[in-house]
Amino acid sequence: MARITNDRDGESFDCNPDDTILRAALRAGQGMPYSCNVGSCGNCRFELIEGEVVHLRDDAPAWSERDLKRNRWLGCQARPVGDCRVKFRVDPVAVPPAPPIRREAELLETRKITRDITEFTFAIQGSDDFRPGQYALLSAPGIDGGRAYSMANLPGEGVWRFMIKRVPGGGATGYLFDSATPGERISIDGPYGTAWLRQGEERDILLMAGGSGLSPMVSIARGARAAGMLDNRKLEFFYGCRATPDLFEPDNVLTPELAKHVHFTAALSEPGEGWTGQTGFLHDVVKATTGERLAQMDIFFAGPPAMAQAIQLMAHEAGVPQSQLFFDEFY
Ligand code: FES
Repeated sequence: MARITNDRDGESFDCNPDDTILRAALRAGQGMPYSCNVGSCGNCRFELIEGEVVHLRDDAPAWSERDLKRNRWLGCQARPVGDCRVKFRVDPVAVPPAPPIRREAELLETRKITRDITEFTFAIQGSDDFRPGQYALLSAPGIDGGRAYSMANLPGEGVWRFMIKRVPGGGATGYLFDSATPGERISIDGPYGTAWLRQGEERDILLMAGGSGLSPMVSIARGARAAGMLDNRKLEFFYGCRATPDLFEPDNVLTPELAKHVHFTAALSEPGEGWTGQTGFLHDVVKATTGERLAQMDIFFAGPPAMAQAIQLMAHEAGVPQSQLFFDEFY
């Protein structure tokens, strides 16, 4: 067990030999800034003042030779070799509402959502607490590091449900879709993520999703309904996909009761014959549909990197304050 001390505020916490500095900080309730947990966003960068760490992911997009020269490391990819003194800014937004826990979880069942999205339901031992919009890291046998997938349900059910899109050639989804059967046990570490539903201001809610990004948006819609937030505000849910086999029935995914309270719109980028709904890229459809209302909404989104980046740009151009944008950066 290593002891990590943050020179910035003098706080210290324990880090297990197989943990990263970021995850150990969050388990201890420290607000270490982060988003993706997989080496992509760079938000967890810290300075190593004393001690030694091992960097886990060689191809982490957010880490470079320049960082190494300046003794800067990624908290989500740094495993300490003994006690360390580090320096990072503490962000209250990153303080976990429910501390992440690594545990074994059993696959109970699967349910097909679209041609390449399936819902995987795992039994969760102990606390199943999380906030709608958060994710967990699932470890597949033979795959290095966890893969981040968001929960689609609400806490208190004793299970976590993940709507996951198969990635062609992807090791983790290959395992889940082709090999995992009910009764299989895997390691699940979570909850993580800062893009979770806050009740705060009484603004209308805009959800945008593509691919596996469907999962956290479904959870947020459910959470908003369960918290009574939809009694006095509107929730608009936009889903972008390629063609009709990528679509699902909103009643089937949101439940018929919830679907009555949600304005659901699907947009196809490559519509076939007979499609009479919205077409084009999701951000263009949202922009045309919401117009000036966009800047007055709380906006949550998740999906492929190109889609997420286009949404960020659209929101910026529309003058949406950063405080109304909620997303985790997996790119
Ligand atoms: S790079 Fe570490 S949280 Fe994103």
